Amino acid sequence: MEYRIALVKGDGIGPEIVESAVAVLEKTGAAFGHRFSFTAYPAGGCAIDACGEPLPRETVEGCLAADSVLLGAVGGPKWDGLSGDRRPEKALLGLRAALGLYTNLRPAKLYPALAGKCPLRADITAKGFDLLMVRELTGGIYFGERGRREGKFGPEAYDTEAYSVMEIERIARVAFDAARKRSGRVTSIDKANVLETSRLWRETVHRVAEEYPDVTVEDMLVDNAAMQLVRDPSRFDVVVTTNMFGDILSDEASQITGSIGLLPSASLGEGTRGLYEPIHGSAPDIAGTGKANPTATILSAAMMLRYSFGLGKEADVIERAVDEALLAGCRTADIAAPGEKMLTCAEMTEEVLERI
Ligand code: IPM
Ligand code: MN
Repeated sequence: MEYRIALVKGDGIGPEIVESAVAVLEKTGAAFGHRFSFTAYPAGGCAIDACGEPLPRETVEGCLAADSVLLGAVGGPKWDGLSGDRRPEKALLGLRAALGLYTNLRPAKLYPALAGKCPLRADITAKGFDLLMVRELTGGIYFGERGRREGKFGPEAYDTEAYSVMEIERIARVAFDAARKRSGRVTSIDKANVLETSRLWRETVHRVAEEYPDVTVEDMLVDNAAMQLVRDPSRFDVVVTTNMFGDILSDEASQITGSIGLLPSASLGEGTRGLYEPIHGSAPDIAGTGKANPTATILSAAMMLRYSFGLGKEADVIERAVDEALLAGCRTADIAAPGEKMLTCAEMTEEVLERI
């Protein structure tokens, strides 16, 4: 069986980390007798430079025609001055929308080998944590009406948050289904003490919960959730939340794993095609220096095998190879303790490849 993968390498460290994940996919494919074919498409700042727009049509069409998409990262200071619709980030938002990827899965767990890199107290890290953030990805304030206008105090800007019952129901089902395969607990995060969208969110999540009597659901306000994540992350299992809250809380969750360079993500819609990318950005400051950590992108490739292609065993092999490399003390710059040997992106990739 041949799987066609669209590569959107993007900007900054994007090309380096995607190259690492491609090497891992090729080795895994060879070991299990699968063929992966790769076609690269421009998006983000590099597409602005080459084609004059962040998300060229051929990129959208190429991704739609592929079995799945592996993305590096987009953006950088070079394009920071551009207006909203012309920015590199527009490519990511546009792709998510065009592919109908309303679910974003962001697992965050503490690797025992990296407990020392976790900024939390030892009595907190001793309990470990392993949570799955389910972030709604194509709705809310990211996609609401926005603009500039004349307001009460002169010129003002506005962004609006809207959520339909349908959008909340479908992401809630994703979370409840995921909880069934884990510990059966869902925490739904909102700001229902202030926002009307959150009140509808809460109502709807609870109605969907009736279909899942075997899953327990608790509500948590987002400000409290931000606090609980650093007070006792072990209390969370599946977390479901809106596009913006999920964006913010997943960065927080990544930091308590030790580094944002470790967290993969899967963006999914109705079919099997997904978009897989690290949760971190393009890190333009370290691009080309070899300091990038390929782990999050390699783990994103593993998620692709599991969620898009149904190759769970193969995904396990990649995840185990990463575990073993970390256990063996392999460290990129972001996770090396003072005095520890630092591996480059390519060297870290080699260490993972050797363990497949
Ligand atoms: C992420 C990123 C994106 C987001 C940006 C680059 C548009 O921060 O994937 O978390 O906010 O979704
Ligand atoms: Mn983010």
